[in-house]
Amino acid sequence: MQIFEEWESEIRAYCRAAPTVFKTASNARQTDESGKTFIDFFAGAGVLNFGHNNPKMKQALIEYIQSDGVAHSLDMYTTAKRTFIQKFVDTILKPREMDYRLQFVGPTGTNAVEAALKLARRVTGRENIVAFHHAFHGMTLGALAATTNAHFRNAAGVPLNHVTHQSFGCETPCPGCQLGCGMGSLERMRALYSNSSSGLPKPAAFLVETIQAEGGVRVASAEWLKGVQDLAHELGALFIVDDIQAGCGRTGPYFSFEGMGLDPDIITLAKGIGGFGTPMAMNLNKPEHDKHWAPGEHTGTFRGQDLSFVAGTVALGYFDDPAFMADTQRKGKIIAQALEQIAAKYPGCSVRGRGMMQAIDFGDGNRSKAIATACFERGLLAAVCGSRGQVIKLIPPLTIPDEDLNEGLALFAEAVASQMETKS
Ligand SMILES: Cc1ncc(COP(=O)(O)O)c(C=O)c1O
Repeated sequence: MQIFEEWESEIRAYCRAAPTVFKTASNARQTDESGKTFIDFFAGAGVLNFGHNNPKMKQALIEYIQSDGVAHSLDMYTTAKRTFIQKFVDTILKPREMDYRLQFVGPTGTNAVEAALKLARRVTGRENIVAFHHAFHGMTLGALAATTNAHFRNAAGVPLNHVTHQSFGCETPCPGCQLGCGMGSLERMRALYSNSSSGLPKPAAFLVETIQAEGGVRVASAEWLKGVQDLAHELGALFIVDDIQAGCGRTGPYFSFEGMGLDPDIITLAKGIGGFGTPMAMNLNKPEHDKHWAPGEHTGTFRGQDLSFVAGTVALGYFDDPAFMADTQRKGKIIAQALEQIAAKYPGCSVRGRGMMQAIDFGDGNRSKAIATACFERGLLAAVCGSRGQVIKLIPPLTIPDEDLNEGLALFAEAVASQMETKS
């Protein structure tokens, strides 16, 4: 590991919590250079929804490369891109009666958020965005202005403005949180943005995660989300759902907000959409908003990643099968039940999540970091999140076999016990 420590930037982070050199990976398992195998409950921070080295995608990629398929194309037309767009329209949009234009952006979530904010400002002619306490939307300056965590914001070096943060609509309040989250935030926002003497300008958009994943797996209620959408439209603002981590099947259905009566103006997608871990980010813009873009106004050299289109097309195939989405719900219940059993043993712990994004809030960042280390030592990869790192989020690949899921949950219970029972 010396070469990394000697030559790589101080900025490196996840490798400090998982200090080994990984060599190979298959579905929900990663193996390091010493031959030790880890069950992966982290899945590349939600990128690897279909597992490491997904065999169907691997095959499609090998065939594509061997046939000299175009690998990089900016936003020129390619066969791979056409196939991806057709598949997305047929599998995702048409069955849901959704009409959107697909905007490919530089292949990171933060770039998708940047583009969404620009478009909302263009459409409304307004500057201010409403985002929410504990939000995470990315690291570039526009998206970072919407992100709340002080550690990340402090790195900006310039004022992060044109965003106002309001209380989120948690389904169940997080222990110790005094930020006024819940349904009450709606009326407060209505008053703030409707009263011309509040000192707050009318917003261009409300930017919301249905589940604040990095913020500590804080789950918004469907009622609150609908209320935010209605308020946005009452105020002439856009309703943007950032589905970068919770979308692409993570909670069961393709979009995290399905069945909630929502009709976002813009949906941001990234992480899992490229399928193989191949990078892609894409916004879905309502056509009436999309027409406000002029050609080439938001570019990005890597917005035409054809290997991502190839693997991403295979990934979309999973959503032709309702059984796949039902299985995500089933596995999500297995995780939630296991976590409830663990949390029941230790006062002050609580479980939150939906589908295959489940978490325990330990209320104490030092404790959860020690548990994540104990997981690593036992051969399980799991990462902390939340403003103080007090939450451990479990997001295994959706394709994880039951045996690995159960083994990983047993390792997790053991790791928790090792820290909670000996160190309290
Ligand atoms: C909801 C959400 N939005 C945006 C981002 C930023 O994505 P990226 O790291 O690819 O820029 C993330 C990353 O975790 C995210 O969870």
